[in-house]
Amino acid sequence: MKKFTCVVSFLMFSSLAFSQAKKAVPLSSEEIKMNQFVDQLMKKMTLTEKIGQLNLPAAGDITTGTATSNNFMKNIEEGKVGGLFNIKDLQKIKRVQELAISKSRLKIPLLFGMDVIHGYRTVFPIPLGLACSWDMKAIEQSAQIAAKEATAEGIHWTFSPMVDLSRDPRWGRMAEGSGEDPFLGGEIAKAMVRGYQGKNLKDAQTMMACIKHFALYGAPDAGRDYGTVDMSRQRMYNEYFLPYKAGIEAGAGSVMASFNEIDGIPATGNKWLLTDVLRKEWGFKGFVVTDYTGINEMIDHGVGDLPKVSAQALKAGVDMDMVGEGFLLTLQQSLKEGKISQKDIDLACRRILEAKYKLGLFEDPFRYIQPERVERDIYTAEHRAIARKTAASSLVLLKNEQNILPLKKSGTIALVGPLADNAVNMVGTWAVAADSKNAISVKKGLAEVGGSNIQWKYAHGSNLHDDSLFNVRASMFGKTVKWDRRDAQSMIEEALAIAKESDVIIAAVGESAEMSGESSSRTDIRIPESQRRLLDALVKTGKPVVALVFSGRPLELTWESKHVPAMLHVWFPGSEAGYAIADVVFGDVNPSGKLTSTFPQHVGQIPIFYNHKMTGRPQDSNKWFTKFKSNYLDVNNEPLYPFGYGLSYTKFEYGKPRLNKTSISSNETIEVSVDITNTGSRAGEEVVQLYIRDVVGSVSRPVKELKGFQKLSFAAGEKKTVTFQIGINDLKFYNSSLQFVAEPGEFQVMVGPNSKDVQTISFNLK
Ligand code: BGC
Repeated sequence: MKKFTCVVSFLMFSSLAFSQAKKAVPLSSEEIKMNQFVDQLMKKMTLTEKIGQLNLPAAGDITTGTATSNNFMKNIEEGKVGGLFNIKDLQKIKRVQELAISKSRLKIPLLFGMDVIHGYRTVFPIPLGLACSWDMKAIEQSAQIAAKEATAEGIHWTFSPMVDLSRDPRWGRMAEGSGEDPFLGGEIAKAMVRGYQGKNLKDAQTMMACIKHFALYGAPDAGRDYGTVDMSRQRMYNEYFLPYKAGIEAGAGSVMASFNEIDGIPATGNKWLLTDVLRKEWGFKGFVVTDYTGINEMIDHGVGDLPKVSAQALKAGVDMDMVGEGFLLTLQQSLKEGKISQKDIDLACRRILEAKYKLGLFEDPFRYIQPERVERDIYTAEHRAIARKTAASSLVLLKNEQNILPLKKSGTIALVGPLADNAVNMVGTWAVAADSKNAISVKKGLAEVGGSNIQWKYAHGSNLHDDSLFNVRASMFGKTVKWDRRDAQSMIEEALAIAKESDVIIAAVGESAEMSGESSSRTDIRIPESQRRLLDALVKTGKPVVALVFSGRPLELTWESKHVPAMLHVWFPGSEAGYAIADVVFGDVNPSGKLTSTFPQHVGQIPIFYNHKMTGRPQDSNKWFTKFKSNYLDVNNEPLYPFGYGLSYTKFEYGKPRLNKTSISSNETIEVSVDITNTGSRAGEEVVQLYIRDVVGSVSRPVKELKGFQKLSFAAGEKKTVTFQIGINDLKFYNSSLQFVAEPGEFQVMVGPNSKDVQTISFNLK
């Protein structure tokens, strides 16, 4: 056990969060050149032109060949626009860039941004699904392909990756992040930044990443989007901050401030966050953009009027104002009144110009405008094949009683459910450049992959939801789900009739794409009643039922887990959805996805997450309820499916973990090994997970924390020894003074196929 008398070694391993400010590193020759260029340019700029660079209008109103918004076109000519976003057409981008270059006095090129979140035209699984692949190479490649396609249409800045941790599935935007884990979130953030930005931002096939939403946006009260966040510094530093920091360390060029407040101050105007943490502690050198009208929304937060909040945002460290024009309208006056300084404006302007320089726009404002690339680089057969493979690896097999799956490619199969014959919903939320009508529906994918020996029968089975108004709210942006006017019972009867004539039933059920994403919070995270009634009727036929469950969040699947024999959680797999699902359903691909967010038994358990702290009155996990212990009267504390969980068509057996030492000092590493055998008769992939627990700390530590994972392929019957190295950094945490320390004492190392079924071994840190 640990002793805290060991002051010398304690100090040896510690470093103050606040003293972690990056030491001044000598500038590279490229940086010197950039600085000289920007210095020269800024000398020529008027105050209006400088403030203009900080302005980022949305170009959603450009609908025809020529840009139609007089206001921002005029503003571009007058040098009052730094960039535009959501402009989707190479020729439009070209025309607007030409305007900036030919008409504005200093010919400063514009930035073109877009929400390229999980692919561009070739759409990959929603980020929460993609994360379940645990495949960093595939995730990086998805971002690289997104960059290649988006840049082919003139976009060189993406508002991604979204790295907000969340433990609240009521929050619809869980769909856009990678789940609940800080370490995994950090690895994914790095992979995405590498994928988008490549090695050289001037390469016309790469684009600038934007880490968002900084910070803590995934922890709103009650899971309601845009809600208030209130969190301890301990939790920020040890958990929620990690993915943002990882993305910044990977070199992301920009950061987006979040809508929520932190310590009572909206992130957009929070100097501690945007300057002290982001720049001074973490050494971020790029620029900060607000979220959509983030500055103006500070008025509703109740912290001041437009001049006040605009000045506050600038002084806090915001460089670019998305949509709201608070900077454009008020900064000149605030400067006159001495509320901000010329230096504040210059700094923000410099950062925007630097971003343009890094993207190579001053050398060639049209470097991302190469018309021949539109045909050549977008939605190619190669990209689609990669998207299909990646999507298949993100599906999570939750249950497979009596090995119902994989299905044979013969016999009669009934396909039912509101999402079975639907293309537009397959791409999921936030897929603005998707050609969703041409996405592969479940029906199409299964028919093609299943081949001609299967006889298919199809029925709609049920509406998405019984309430037609809910259906409307859940069908935004053209992502409709057919509203069948028949009564629920007739639809079920039709489904039962085809089920009777079939050997097996596949039900495509769950959420529509827009039941998650921005402004799509839910209080009830079950599959809607209309669809559960259908499942119930199908299950009662006694025929094997396979549920393909669509969702953009963890769902409460307690009823389904008891009654439906096989469940494949498919998230929203993207453009190739139907093919990817069929590849797994028919066993051409062995499922290997594992959950990156805990599935609760009941919505009332939320927030529920694997890396929680111990309480002073922990409930013994073998029992449901003990009076005066931390528990519920009506549900035990366990999740329905734990973090890291997912089945395969084969079985993996884990040996006992071994350590090569019993203790280490701070400059050593320790190796943990475990033998894993594929005991089944099929090849498969397994995500081996390593968790660590710091048994006694100066502050309480989580019951376990993911610190490593490896996704490995095994031939049938193959045995492999998997090893992980654990070093001092894996043992450190931020203590109550926010010092980043590793404290001597016992550490438990846990290895397993998920966060629950682990085997434990201990070592000591001297
Ligand atoms: C979202 C951001 C997005 C921005 C621009 C906002 O509403 O919160 O994630 O990047 O809009 O589209």
